[in-house]
Amino acid sequence: MNKNTPLSPRLKSAASFVPRDCRLADIGTDHARLPIYLIKNGTIENAIASDIADGPLEKAAENLKYYGLTDYVLLRKADGLHAVSDYEADCAVIAGMGGELISHLLKKYIPKGLKKLIIQPMTDAYFVRRALSKCGFKIVSENIVPERNKMYIIICAEPGKAAPFNDMGYFSPQLKKHPLYKDYLAYRLKLIEKSAVQAINAGAETDTVKEYLLLKKEYKKML
Ligand SMILES: C[S@@+](CC[C@H](N)C(=O)[O-])C[C@H]1O[C@@H](n2cnc3c(N)ncnc32)[C@H](O)[C@@H]1O
Repeated sequence: MNKNTPLSPRLKSAASFVPRDCRLADIGTDHARLPIYLIKNGTIENAIASDIADGPLEKAAENLKYYGLTDYVLLRKADGLHAVSDYEADCAVIAGMGGELISHLLKKYIPKGLKKLIIQPMTDAYFVRRALSKCGFKIVSENIVPERNKMYIIICAEPGKAAPFNDMGYFSPQLKKHPLYKDYLAYRLKLIEKSAVQAINAGAETDTVKEYLLLKKEYKKML
């Protein structure tokens, strides 16, 4: 890890939701860039960083050594939030995995005492919104982050009852308020158009088709 490599806008946005002095767990840490950044800038003192695979954990250990933070970040090999025991962390970040995988991880296990979940799905954020509401978390904020021709979603959720979805989780009230919402709709429509049209032509009623039709309606309203 290059000392001068800045955190990507996507991870920087996730980091901006982490409360000062919280007990953080970074799930699927890979290179451990997020806890390194947060400790270095004084937001947190230490963290748990987990991954399911050995390679990323070795990379994380190397980076922590490079930054002199080996004693401040506890590395754990675990599946999803199983890395954290009840009341061991206040805040967990799950970034850089697909929305469907994240939704499975959330449904498997969420440790007690977690006050904040910060989630950055690489794809299909609606899986995450649906899973959060099933797991007793409500979305309090969402950010849209453009990075290298892509647009990423960052979801911040806290324990609480979520309002029922009338749009299957394809958007949230927080997303709709974002200044880049219209751009995000256009980006997402372009991304899913080909597979949605193929499915429509084949008579299939997939999630992508439902999302496509809803997004199109929503986008037209904004023109
Ligand atoms: C693309 S990296 C993202 C790294 C970092 N969080 C980021 O956003 O840049 C995804 C990481 O998640 C890990 N991962 C995949 N499935 C996992 C699981 N079930 N539990 C924990 N980590 C997992 C992978 O091994 C990989 O290191």
